[in-house]
Amino acid sequence: MIRNRLIINAKKIDKFLNNYLKKQGKSLLINPMKYGVISGGKKIRSTIILSAGKIFNLDQKKLINVCASVECIHSYSLIHDDLPCMDNDSTRRGKPSTHIKFGEASAVLAGNSLLTLAFEIIADKNYIIDPKSKNEIIKSLAFCAGHTGIAGGQELDLKFENKKKSLNQIIEMQKKKTGKLFSFCFYAVGVLAKKNIKEKKFLSSLGEEIGLLFQLADDFLDVKGSKKLVGKPIKKDDKKGKSTLINLIGYEKANNYANNLKKNILLKLKKHGKKANNLSDVIEFILNRNF
Ligand code: IPE
Ligand code: IPE
Ligand code: MG
Ligand code: MG
Ligand code: MG
Repeated sequence: MIRNRLIINAKKIDKFLNNYLKKQGKSLLINPMKYGVISGGKKIRSTIILSAGKIFNLDQKKLINVCASVECIHSYSLIHDDLPCMDNDSTRRGKPSTHIKFGEASAVLAGNSLLTLAFEIIADKNYIIDPKSKNEIIKSLAFCAGHTGIAGGQELDLKFENKKKSLNQIIEMQKKKTGKLFSFCFYAVGVLAKKNIKEKKFLSSLGEEIGLLFQLADDFLDVKGSKKLVGKPIKKDDKKGKSTLINLIGYEKANNYANNLKKNILLKLKKHGKKANNLSDVIEFILNRNF
């Protein structure tokens, strides 16, 4: 079952990150960093990477660094997303947000440190893959995390508050703030599987669509989810004037849009036959989840 897989994979990544941080020098930021990235969250991006790796028979051991790196970037983005200058949320993963627990300055710095840690984990000499692939993965991670990816998307998300934006503008914003990291997950798998440029492009855009689906589901949970299960405040997007598909076209139409998107994604996976079954299960879970 997908829930069990999520738990098993999350444990694997937590263990990797704990060991990795243990080998580094001590610092005051280790605690807020661990608080933000370890023992919490679905770690669904890791499960996505491992499931996509199955399609190409990739050795799972070669994927762990990519998973840990992506979780660092993701957790950094959440620590900053909760800050008062952004979404101003006090709860995350059923606990006080990092800035509530450790203060704003430590949260900003722990977030920055997780962002750089992500690159350190890929560049690490003990992560043995061919140097050209490593370089390509690092370059893509930078592109997906910075102003052309998460950070740029987050800026649009905030600038779009209380503004009337078109469907395309909202979709493009969501593809950046959330889609690009999923896009990276698939691109990295394509690089490690030695795919050609055309196939890597196909994988990237598939990842972006899956990320968009994930964000749409997150927006649905804000309206219909349970605070206890999602572990963060709900019914806040409307209050904050967030530009979401729900606020533009209503819940039902947004839901139809998401279901169509899911259908198209599953169709694209068909060509990989049974090898994509694991990934298809994750796609189903993304839209049906309640946490
Ligand atoms: C929440 O991401 C933020 C979005 C990009 C929608 P997740 O739902 O993956 O958060 P965790 O890691 O499981 O807490
Ligand atoms: C966050 O989107 C996307 C990020 C890239 C961090 P949200 O602001 O909707 O995420 P939650 O609902 O706070 O987890
Ligand atoms: Mg936000
Ligand atoms: Mg938020
Ligand atoms: Mg949300």
